[in-house]
Amino acid sequence: MGIVTRNENAWCSTQLREAMKRRNITSVCFSFPQLVARIKYKPEASVGEIDLLKDLSALLVRPIGRGSLEEIIFRMDLLHRLERLGMLIINPPLSIERSVDKYHALTFLEEHGLPVPRTAVTENHEEALKAFYELGEDIVIKPVFGSRGIGSTRISDPDVATRVFRAISFYHGVIYLQEFVPHGFSDIRAFVVGDRVIAAMHRVAETWKTNVSLGARPVSIKLDEELDNLAVGAAKAIGCRVAGVDILEGPKGPIIVELNSQPGWRGLQSVTTVDIADEIIRYVLSELKA
Ligand SMILES: Nc1ncnc2c1ncn2[C@@H]1O[C@H](COP(=O)(O)OP(=O)(O)O)[C@@H](O)[C@H]1O
Ligand SMILES: [Mg+2]
Repeated sequence: MGIVTRNENAWCSTQLREAMKRRNITSVCFSFPQLVARIKYKPEASVGEIDLLKDLSALLVRPIGRGSLEEIIFRMDLLHRLERLGMLIINPPLSIERSVDKYHALTFLEEHGLPVPRTAVTENHEEALKAFYELGEDIVIKPVFGSRGIGSTRISDPDVATRVFRAISFYHGVIYLQEFVPHGFSDIRAFVVGDRVIAAMHRVAETWKTNVSLGARPVSIKLDEELDNLAVGAAKAIGCRVAGVDILEGPKGPIIVELNSQPGWRGLQSVTTVDIADEIIRYVLSELKA
């Protein structure tokens, strides 16, 4: 099995490699810049001496990394090509595309009848200000391609909103604003593998952003059936086989704010006895047999 990752010594990739080793599976770890793709001669994709299609039976995609638009599109195109040529890719490239773009992801969740926050997206700062009022003058703005809580800001002052929206549109950004859902500084992260939640936690923070990477404390929980179904339904709606689903417990019930197609699990692993890396490998094996 191959693992494509920005950093092969990162904690999750190491966990995956060790889980494979325990099951006598040979692993190959590489990054996108090491890959060569070919057309009209073979191998279609290789890393050094390794022919991806001949030598690997599955490819696990860890964070595909930052890059220029050209780099990211090439990486996705290559994953699509490998999938068309029969390789099992987890997560499937289409689901990665759907999830990394926060606007795109939420549209799929909404279309599948799942609860999501009211959200407006525009390139126009004047329209953004109108949406700020529509959304109740207490909003969160987020980078459309962001993660780990970086770059998200809560704004309830129209002057600040005006300045920020103008700045974003000046730099040709897309303004993504969402109603603030009061949640008491904690939320739920559900880890889905296949069609079930294998582990979940509360992330307890000291501010409204509950990312573990920003210091939130993981607390293991068992989800009730409703939340369990929401998390699995969200992963299905996007097409992810492995997903980290972020759920806020709002005043009107649970709301899904995000679905990560390349989730980390270091925080979650520290509070659960489930061997998360092994669950992922076991799932990939079951898909290969199917
Ligand atoms: N609409 C919202 N209302 C309240 N808190 C939010 C809202 N959206 C996000 N948050 C908080 O900010 C965190 C980061 O937002 P999220 O959408 O998961 O983006 P990312 O994790 O990719 O940066 C969430 O885990 C949650 O704690
Ligand atoms: Mg998140």
